[in-house]
Amino acid sequence: MKHRLKHKSYGENTLRQYGGNILRSHGMAQEKRFLQHGTVSVYEHSVAVALMCLQLARLLHLRTNTRSLVRGALLHDYFLYDWHIKEKDRPLHGTHHARRAMANAQRDFGLNHIEKNMILAHMFPLNLTLPRYRESVLLCAADKICAARETWQGVFRKR
Ligand SMILES: [Fe+2]
Ligand SMILES: [Fe+2]
Repeated sequence: MKHRLKHKSYGENTLRQYGGNILRSHGMAQEKRFLQHGTVSVYEHSVAVALMCLQLARLLHLRTNTRSLVRGALLHDYFLYDWHIKEKDRPLHGTHHARRAMANAQRDFGLNHIEKNMILAHMFPLNLTLPRYRESVLLCAADKICAARETWQGVFRKR
């Protein structure tokens, strides 16, 4: 895994176990080319968010569907376009990309009801889809923590 730190992070084996096919997919290879925050690619962001979900679940002793937690987290930003490039007919990225990610992920991997809700609700409260499962709430929190960290690191690096 490209983003790997010196030490193996908690959750990497679980990530590979449940998300191996997603990580090796053509769609995720595309995500490596699209930047998310600062210099972090959508792929790296998604891996970081999935690991953060697993770590938060452990920290809070939450019983979750681990397979769905990994899959929903890995696919939450599977919108597959460069959001920095404006396109005339594309609705606003912030509010639209969750729906697009869900449709792409459903097409490429098939999703259960937990994974669908995780992806659709990950931008809550910006999007009005409510997080209905523990996995969705964890993703919502993990995404915001990772996004803040990536943005902050980007600002820091520019100095
Ligand atoms: Fe997102
Ligand atoms: Fe995200």
